[in-house]
Amino acid sequence: PTANIGVVGLAVMGSNLARNLASREGNTVAVYNRSRSKTDELVAEHPEAGFVATFSYEEFAAALQTPRTALIMVKAGAPTDAVIESLMEVFEPGDIIIDGGNSLFTDTIRREKAVRERGFNFVGMGVSGGEEGALHGPSLMPGGPDEAWTTLGPILRSIAAVAPDGEPCVTHVGHDGAGHFVKMVHNGIEYADMQLIAEAYDLIRRGTGKTPAEIADIFAEWNTGELESYLIEITAEVLRQVDAATGKPLVDVILDSAGAKGTGAWTVQTALDLGVPVSGIAEATFARSLSSHREQRAVSGGLPGPAEDAFTVEDPDAFVEQVRLALYASKIVAYSQGFDEIRAGAAQYGWTIDLGAISKIWRAGCIIRAQFLNRIADAYAAEPDLQVLLTAPYFVDALGRAQEAWRHIVGTAATAGIPAPAFSSSLAYYDGLRAKRLPAALIQGQRDFFGAHTYKRIDKEGTFHTLWSGDRTEVEAEDTH
Ligand code: 6PG
Repeated sequence: PTANIGVVGLAVMGSNLARNLASREGNTVAVYNRSRSKTDELVAEHPEAGFVATFSYEEFAAALQTPRTALIMVKAGAPTDAVIESLMEVFEPGDIIIDGGNSLFTDTIRREKAVRERGFNFVGMGVSGGEEGALHGPSLMPGGPDEAWTTLGPILRSIAAVAPDGEPCVTHVGHDGAGHFVKMVHNGIEYADMQLIAEAYDLIRRGTGKTPAEIADIFAEWNTGELESYLIEITAEVLRQVDAATGKPLVDVILDSAGAKGTGAWTVQTALDLGVPVSGIAEATFARSLSSHREQRAVSGGLPGPAEDAFTVEDPDAFVEQVRLALYASKIVAYSQGFDEIRAGAAQYGWTIDLGAISKIWRAGCIIRAQFLNRIADAYAAEPDLQVLLTAPYFVDALGRAQEAWRHIVGTAATAGIPAPAFSSSLAYYDGLRAKRLPAALIQGQRDFFGAHTYKRIDKEGTFHTLWSGDRTEVEAEDTH
């Protein structure tokens, strides 16, 4: 056997990761794809990679040095299960099977257990950065047994993106589903980030009448400051693009119906189960859903709202700066919520996840890479057990600078009838966290009224119920939550 690692599944992500692996000193990469043509194509197009082409699982296994290491890059779900099963038929105990797809973390937990019981090592690895990242350096989020990490660590470090301080963007996230869980939350944050940027663009466009090209300049300018990030950078590129067919800005001819492949929804569903309020991510996910319900939007166009021309901004430069601050504050909330979900997930599933390390491996290679992640890394370095990320001193200061503008922008959007769901819900979350007292006390009263669900008091221990349908005196009760 000549290869030290193999890749199964040679669609774009798989091919690019295979090429990335092959380009690193000391690696020989075996490749396998269900349909032969993809393998032939890849090997013919990239002779420099020195791939070992294989055309059956037996050949693939025979090409790999032991312990064998195979990276699966096929569709999440049933195709992944099928490949794992095929590999186990030809591999030997101790070999390592890595799933690099966007798998649901609960599937990864299930697979890890099943694969381990048969004596193999299973690693569920989140891979971010799209096609370019896969080829030149992705951010990698592997979860699995320590034993596998010993073999895999050096290989993964060699292909990962490199952060500005020279650190590779990969860490052993935790056991079984931890890596895919963290990748899922990465995508949830990606949804929130994208929605916030889209709301900022919409407000600026409708408030100031600037053209997409002019707004591209604004984003390019923002990209030189605290908002510096890949998503801000590509936003400027998209806004500047002109449609060849019509001569119009491309953004004006793209159908305003956002797609989603499900990872944002998983983040929200999981957060609901864990009881973590990821409202910014949820709003971003729902905003995509709303945009895609074209039939509902078609029948709702006549609903009353403020006059279309009633919204004019007196000082466009000041308004743009307020939008920037609102975007930054909302972004802090989205990341804080995302890290909160990782913390809660780790507690629920028994993973030890170093949140500071996660922020560091997102600094390069992935879609949400941003200068801002250094601030998050600093926050966790100063206080590893930080309960709420946005209460770190740097963020408190940033929110202090932004909050007035943020409120103004949310108010303006509401008055002008411009939807800004992620901006507004992030602000509501922020004020909810800050509140000395919440109207949840009233909800407890209502629950106790109709269902004897009981309540606690602020002034003494115990659980209580008011005899609402009797003489309305209070009695001690069993705690029913
Ligand atoms: C990444 C991305 C990627 C994701 C796409 C599409 O980290 O490289 O998150 O994994 O699949 O962004 O996601 P949607 O189709 O759901 O927008």
